Amino acid sequence: MCGIVGYIGHREAYPIVMEGLKRLEYRGYDSAGIALYDGSDIKLSKTKGKVADLEERVKEEITTEGTIGIGHTRWATHGVPNDVNSHPHYSNSGDLVIIHNGIIENYDSIKTELIKRGYVFKSDTDTEVLINLIEEVKKKQNVKLGKAVQLALNEVVGAYAIAVFDKNKPNEIVVAKLGSPLAIGIGDDEFFIASDASPFIEFTKNAIYLEDEEMAIVRRDKKIKIRKIKDDSEVNPSMQELKFNLEQIEKGGYEHFMLKEIHEQPNAIRDTYRGRLLAKEGIIRMAGIDDNIEKFLNANRIIIVACGTSWHAGLVAEYIFEDLARIPVEVEYASEFRYRNPVITEKDVVIAISQSGETADTLAAIKLAKSKGAFVFGVCNVVGSTIARETNAGAYTHAGPEIGVASTKAFTTQITVLTLIALKLAKANGSMSNSVFHHHLQELELIPEKVKEALKADEHIKKVAEIYKDAKNCLYLGRGYNFPVALEGALKLKEISYIHAEGYPAAEMKHGPIALIDEQMPVFVIATKKGHYEKVVSNIQEIKSRSGKIIGIVTTGDVDVKNVADHVIEVPETIESLTPLLTTIPLQLLSYHIAVMLEKNVDQPRNLAKSVTVE
Ligand code: AGP
Ligand code: GLU
Repeated sequence: MCGIVGYIGHREAYPIVMEGLKRLEYRGYDSAGIALYDGSDIKLSKTKGKVADLEERVKEEITTEGTIGIGHTRWATHGVPNDVNSHPHYSNSGDLVIIHNGIIENYDSIKTELIKRGYVFKSDTDTEVLINLIEEVKKKQNVKLGKAVQLALNEVVGAYAIAVFDKNKPNEIVVAKLGSPLAIGIGDDEFFIASDASPFIEFTKNAIYLEDEEMAIVRRDKKIKIRKIKDDSEVNPSMQELKFNLEQIEKGGYEHFMLKEIHEQPNAIRDTYRGRLLAKEGIIRMAGIDDNIEKFLNANRIIIVACGTSWHAGLVAEYIFEDLARIPVEVEYASEFRYRNPVITEKDVVIAISQSGETADTLAAIKLAKSKGAFVFGVCNVVGSTIARETNAGAYTHAGPEIGVASTKAFTTQITVLTLIALKLAKANGSMSNSVFHHHLQELELIPEKVKEALKADEHIKKVAEIYKDAKNCLYLGRGYNFPVALEGALKLKEISYIHAEGYPAAEMKHGPIALIDEQMPVFVIATKKGHYEKVVSNIQEIKSRSGKIIGIVTTGDVDVKNVADHVIEVPETIESLTPLLTTIPLQLLSYHIAVMLEKNVDQPRNLAKSVTVE
């Protein structure tokens, strides 16, 4: 979710806000906009596209005087990227204006109620609903903007970092935070608001980072007051003196975008199931599935088409769909599928998986499937991308922009979406009992915390990376659900460290690859308690007896593998179908650390593009 910027003080707001938006471009976005108060009215300009496009629009559309302003770079979640859906958004009266990063989960029900009360909506966004809820509360309760925001946010479920101002009270900006970042730069009689400190680091090094469920009324000439959204109680602000430089801020303090995105996975997975996984109620809510459920339930089979890491997520999905929902699935490399004259009928459902939504082979496979009458469902990370628009329906991963070429949070959020779909279908076709269904929902809800736990092994993983960074070849082995994770682990190592690596089903060793084993060949074996554990342990012993070096990815507390392997890396226990969400974490970190130690270009590896838009 992208970027917000705001300024209130004694300087001209426009140059500060516009430059601030440029500072946030690194986060990836699809639209941009700005609103200024010029002393008598709000001037607003916004556009799909880049900040440079916004600058051109501003020159044509508005004057830029004023010492209060807000700006936004959008990463669309509700409503495709276009001018109307871009931020800022006005309230119906035109008095209030808002920018927002995040997702309002219950926007639908709020919108329905507001429409009954005569509100009209220009955009498809959840954000426009929020600003009109604030307006409705302000009017009905006859309160000031700050109180209206506080009351309105108590009716909202979701994630937000917002900045709002009222043209009738232009000496303050109201901000609030839950789930998305929001920093306030404290200057001399001036305040800066932003998603991170990069827009204001040159003006002040004093900042307050709002905590979740906190809000503030930022007044030009007053000391800042932080309050709890829940009960309006005052909070003592903790001022921080920033030590980061610009580049460090952009990477969130991490050395590379890839490492930042590996560590973003708990939030990315949570954002992806937010509003869809209602574990307490025992419901999975996915409009794209609900509206087409008969197609899935009556399908001859599901064909999954994808490339690279997305293909590995598709392979995990094959195991999940067949194991849990008893629906036949086949997974195809899109580049092969599009040319091998496959048998496709209108009784087939095709699921296309693509982080970028622009991969040429996947797009061609979709078009082929549609030409044969199949129903095509997309799982993309970029709202409004070509694949998202080409498919008949779809579900977005809310991973946020993935900058590093090596896909990490896209993989785990794709698996999250596919798991939700499989569980929904398993419930609908009766192949899963209520109790097992509920258990899966509860376990899935715990995954972000378990991913956080798995990330804590980073220092240990770095030590293992140091030992094996000079290997020339590596093997990755897994069984069942973790066979695709072995393939993904090998791909991660290959694409950023340039070390040759292969992923194999652990049992396949006997059919040839075991000839490769010697003390020069590190073998990474995924051997979690859930998933053919005993068989994997015997595979490990076969490797050990041939002097192979073994690094086991094991369930916390494991003893058997630990007694045989040269190293083990622990991940928390979970149900078998969810283990890929955890076992991939150490393999991502391992490939990252090896590539850094080999001084490779981790975020932009040689020969690779983030999105392969050509054949
Ligand atoms: C994975 O780390 C690579 N970046 C690559 O294999 C990627 O997954 C593949 O090109 C598919 O991209 P997409 O998900 O954007 O379609
Ligand atoms: N959910 C809002 C929208 O889709 C905000 C997205 C963002 O974080 O940029 O417009």
